[in-house]
Amino acid sequence: MSRLELQDVRVHFGGVKAVDGVSFAVEPGQLVGMVGPNGSGKSTTVNAVTRTADLTSGRITFDGEDVSTVRPHVLRRKGLVRTFQGIRLIPELSVRDNVRLAAEQDGSRRRWRVGRGEKLPSDTACDAALERLDLLDVRDEAPSALPYGTQRRVEIARALATGPRLLLLDEPVAGMNRAEREEIAAVLTDLNSDGLSMLVIEHDLRLLLALSDHLVVLNFGRLLAQGEPAATAALPEVRQAYLGSAA
Ligand SMILES: Nc1ncnc2c1ncn2[C@@H]1O[C@H](COP(=O)(O)OP(=O)(O)OP(=O)(O)O)[C@@H](O)[C@H]1O
Ligand SMILES: [Mg+2]
Repeated sequence: MSRLELQDVRVHFGGVKAVDGVSFAVEPGQLVGMVGPNGSGKSTTVNAVTRTADLTSGRITFDGEDVSTVRPHVLRRKGLVRTFQGIRLIPELSVRDNVRLAAEQDGSRRRWRVGRGEKLPSDTACDAALERLDLLDVRDEAPSALPYGTQRRVEIARALATGPRLLLLDEPVAGMNRAEREEIAAVLTDLNSDGLSMLVIEHDLRLLLALSDHLVVLNFGRLLAQGEPAATAALPEVRQAYLGSAA
């Protein structure tokens, strides 16, 4: 059974066919890369999966369950977790509180009462995520005081602290320098080799080819191609779609 499956998904905004009949799957443990020119419907596809956008038609299943109309917070509780294209941290809170808040909000059903002075499971999840993303040294800092690349790591830690079964990342290395990109790429590889299923949107095709098990290419809201990453990226229609674009 696929972890995530999209069947003929459409998201139209009036006359704008942002996503127009897209079908693909993420298998358990797979890292699926998604590329496409600006405006090709990548973020809207993720929005449809996480119910930030409503489906015009089509069907989405998560571990075999139809989640096409399930509400966002319920999806997060089921383990479908995303990061956004822009940074969304609370500037007044420390790095640790930002991550802990995510763990508490979305892992609420997994919490239980423990004796005074003991750690709640959300604290444990938070600390594990901070360690995983190499953020323990900056846990008491305000996110705004940190470099952009570090802020993005905090975002990934927030997602991780909720205990995801599928992580969707919308351009996790956008705006980063090469060293920061490689750092994030190593983190994603590491999480994936631990069995975490992921869907990663990224303009940096070279980076995505190094990470992905499967590549999905969108163009004008439609699926242009999908398959083995290197072979898919080499297809004439894929190369054509990228001529003159940011990638
Ligand atoms: N809420 C909305 N209302 C109207 N149009 C929208 C909305 N969201 C997205 N669109 C349009 O849908 C199309 C696809 O946008 P989307 O953000 O999914 O593209 P993208 O592939 O993520 O692009 P980028 O690489 O620039 O992030 C664009 O034409 C965009 O303007
Ligand atoms: Mg986008």
